[in-house]
Amino acid sequence: MRRKNFLMIALLLTGVVCLVTFMNKNDFENDVTLKSKDNLPRFETLQPLSSGCQQNMSAYDVNGFSTLPNHIQDFLLYQHCRSFPMLLDVPNKCGGPQNSADVFLLLVIKSSPENYERREVLRKTWAKEKLHKGVWIRRVFIIGTSRTGFEKHRLNNLLKLENSENKDILQWEFNDSFFNLTMKQILFLEWMERWCPHTRFLLNGDDDIFANTFNMVEYLQGQKGNDGSKHLFTGHLIQNVGPIRHPSSKYFVPVQVQESESYPPYCGGGGFLLSGFTAKTIYNMSHSIDLLPIDDVYMGMCLQKAGLKPTSHLGVRTAGLLIPAANVDKFHPCYYREIILVHRFPPHMIFVMWNEIQNPHLQCGRTKSL
Ligand SMILES: *[C@@H]1O[C@H](CO)[C@@H](O)[C@H](O)[C@H]1NC(C)=O
Ligand SMILES: *[C@@H]1O[C@H](CO)[C@@H](O)[C@H](O)[C@H]1NC(C)=O
Ligand SMILES: *[C@@H]1O[C@H](CO)[C@@H](O)[C@H](O)[C@H]1NC(C)=O
Ligand SMILES: *[C@@H]1O[C@H](CO)[C@@H](O)[C@H](O)[C@H]1NC(C)=O
Repeated sequence: MRRKNFLMIALLLTGVVCLVTFMNKNDFENDVTLKSKDNLPRFETLQPLSSGCQQNMSAYDVNGFSTLPNHIQDFLLYQHCRSFPMLLDVPNKCGGPQNSADVFLLLVIKSSPENYERREVLRKTWAKEKLHKGVWIRRVFIIGTSRTGFEKHRLNNLLKLENSENKDILQWEFNDSFFNLTMKQILFLEWMERWCPHTRFLLNGDDDIFANTFNMVEYLQGQKGNDGSKHLFTGHLIQNVGPIRHPSSKYFVPVQVQESESYPPYCGGGGFLLSGFTAKTIYNMSHSIDLLPIDDVYMGMCLQKAGLKPTSHLGVRTAGLLIPAANVDKFHPCYYREIILVHRFPPHMIFVMWNEIQNPHLQCGRTKSL
């Protein structure tokens, strides 16, 4: 009886092994014919690289889930996922954790794979790495992935090339969408704690801002008694607002995501300055605060939980500049010489403006300065 069972199992196993071999062989042959027929390589990226984070099935039971826009459903399903593999890294950006205090200002710029031209312009203008007034300015772009299949593969190749040339890209394997920006910020803060823990100050901003890096350094050097080890969080301060409940808005946040009708004070995400201490504190607080998809508000929530306040800096114009009349050139360099940063600049104007504000012969009367 036993012997018979054993024989049966052995036979079955042999069958399975044969079948698997046969199927693999078929696969292999298909591969070869595909290659010889189309003469095209197959991309491993055609299969989604799984981050290993599963959907939260209870999100489907949330009241009115099926009526929510797709990106919000997505947010609820993956809200708990906080760890994604890194595709590109620059661990030595700050000279190693021990030496990271040598970096006075780290420019942390939110970019997307497609925004190659913006990155190129920033690299040669305000975000250029340099020693200025005796302190080091360094730069990283923080990026996810976009598209699928060969389009995604192509963009990832672009970033790889850029990084081998410039050593300035941190890329993670997650969809670089607007509602994933908070994730991006937290992944960066986690990276910073590991590789640049003693970096003094940071500029956190978009890749379409014009910033006056020299003014930033001057302002930060003027922070009496703050070498980055005390609280600083300053920018375009926004207060007394709450979630936008219109489904058609880019910023739409339904009650299913946040019930409260008010947001804490925060600084507009186009660009703000913060100290290394405050960056660490925000990261600390984020462990115990559910993600909110609006990244700048989320920073405000972390500050509030830590008992810290964001402040207003008049030189940060994330809502743009108020130009007095329609017949004056809104790109006159005198408007930009005194500011710290302005939101929404096309790449070619960043290039022009960066050169113009450094023109020693630039004459600005009282009417043109801010
Ligand atoms: C899953 O979703 C439900 C409903 O939104 C939520 O209450 C719960 O906290 C979520 N679980 C995790 C692990 O995020
Ligand atoms: C990424 O997210 C956006 C917005 O939610 C969506 O339209 C797009 O299809 C997503 N892309 C991938 C590859 O999942
Ligand atoms: C965020 O990224 C993850 C990983 O790519 C993706 O599954 C999720 O759909 C994205 N969320 C949003 C709201 O785009
Ligand atoms: C972060 O949290 C840990 C424990 O919760 C605490 O020991 C540490 O001091 C905190 N760091 C900052 C910068 O708040």
